[in-house]
Amino acid sequence: MTRVIIITGKGGVGKSSVAAATALVGARQGLRTALVSVDSAHNLSDIFARRVGDDLTSITDNLTALEVDLNREIRTHWGAIVAFFRHLTLNNPRVNEIVAEECAVFPGMEELFGLFRLKDLIESGEYDFIVVDAPPTGDMMKFLRLPDVLEWFLTKFLPLEKKLLRTARPVASHLKIPLPDEGSLDNLTYWHDKVGKLSSYFMDFQHITARIVMTPDRVCLEETRRAFSTLCLFGLMVDAIIVNKLFPCHDGNSFLCFWSHQQRQLLSQIASGFAPLPVLTAELLAQEVIGIDHLETFGRQIYRETPPESLLMEEPPFRLAETPEAYELYIRLPFLEQDHFHLWITHDALIVNLYNQRRRIPLPDALLRREMIAAHYQNGRLCVAFRRENAGIH
Ligand SMILES: Nc1ncnc2c1ncn2[C@@H]1O[C@H](COP(=O)(O)OP(=O)(O)OP(=O)(O)O)[C@@H](O)[C@H]1O
Ligand SMILES: [Mg+2]
Repeated sequence: MTRVIIITGKGGVGKSSVAAATALVGARQGLRTALVSVDSAHNLSDIFARRVGDDLTSITDNLTALEVDLNREIRTHWGAIVAFFRHLTLNNPRVNEIVAEECAVFPGMEELFGLFRLKDLIESGEYDFIVVDAPPTGDMMKFLRLPDVLEWFLTKFLPLEKKLLRTARPVASHLKIPLPDEGSLDNLTYWHDKVGKLSSYFMDFQHITARIVMTPDRVCLEETRRAFSTLCLFGLMVDAIIVNKLFPCHDGNSFLCFWSHQQRQLLSQIASGFAPLPVLTAELLAQEVIGIDHLETFGRQIYRETPPESLLMEEPPFRLAETPEAYELYIRLPFLEQDHFHLWITHDALIVNLYNQRRRIPLPDALLRREMIAAHYQNGRLCVAFRRENAGIH
């Protein structure tokens, strides 16, 4: 199967440069490689100093690039859902047509369409290696949350809405009040299934991993920690941190050397804090990373002898273990305190509230209807224990 690496991180840290360099090093090794930008602020064209568009563009041997036109994707696929939101808000005098359209473009949607395109590329079988220039971590999170939001909408709101519609339709048609048709609602169910499949696709730890790019400063470190925990919570496997723009200290410049020293101290904190996750590094170059030659130098600096497509970290975000008394579900959630999160279980899922994020983690069959008997947080892992005998069978 195709190896996919998603490059994310805070704005401006060098995500696109790292993504392009990663793809280029892979292509130089003979892998059939595609570099895909799903960030709405594309800049692959600037990086390669040539036009990269919504169609696959050949860059060099084995390397093609693509900037997904998110607006075009939305126009093509989302018409039915926009129509649904328009209908849904039509009767509210405070909601005009423009607001209705705005509502329809909900958080995570752009990223979602970019990732549908990615799925098509993976399934084409034409690539060994796909590198994704992803949006900043906050926007990635919106996509990862989307299946949970749709799940909530479909289980809580949709049945009620369908019932109401059936009752209200005769009256509404008499009064000439437009209502959403059931086809629009079914459409949502269709999208829910599609999104669900896509997100489970991204949980293939062996083939799809994320790498977080950061700069060596404390503000970025805090954000990277939060991003890492949240990506783990949403089940996306992070297999490396890339610290970019380290100041060099070659020429004895005391100002640069002072900063370089500070950064190296922070770097050792980063390495021990994220361990056993590997931390790759790249120095601030004397010029911007533009054009094939600079990208190649940059890529070799980051990966050295390591093949960029290799899986750099083996431990998955979720793991199930057994003891004589319990099944234990381990979730990798580094950098937290016990009081940072709350948990509870429903009949088929574990719900974790972390910061302002809520994640519904569907339970594997082995844990369904079992009683949660303990939970503790240790060494960056949350362990939730479930009683072994099946509480649902009497
Ligand atoms: N190691 C480096 N040395 C010198 N310049 C760098 C380095 N890494 C990135 N840059 C430069 O920093 C700028 C921002 O990089 P890039 O566009 O890759 O960041 P980004 O994280 O993708 O930004 P955005 O969040 O806007 O998408 C670019 O001009 C790039 O050439
Ligand atoms: Mg970018």
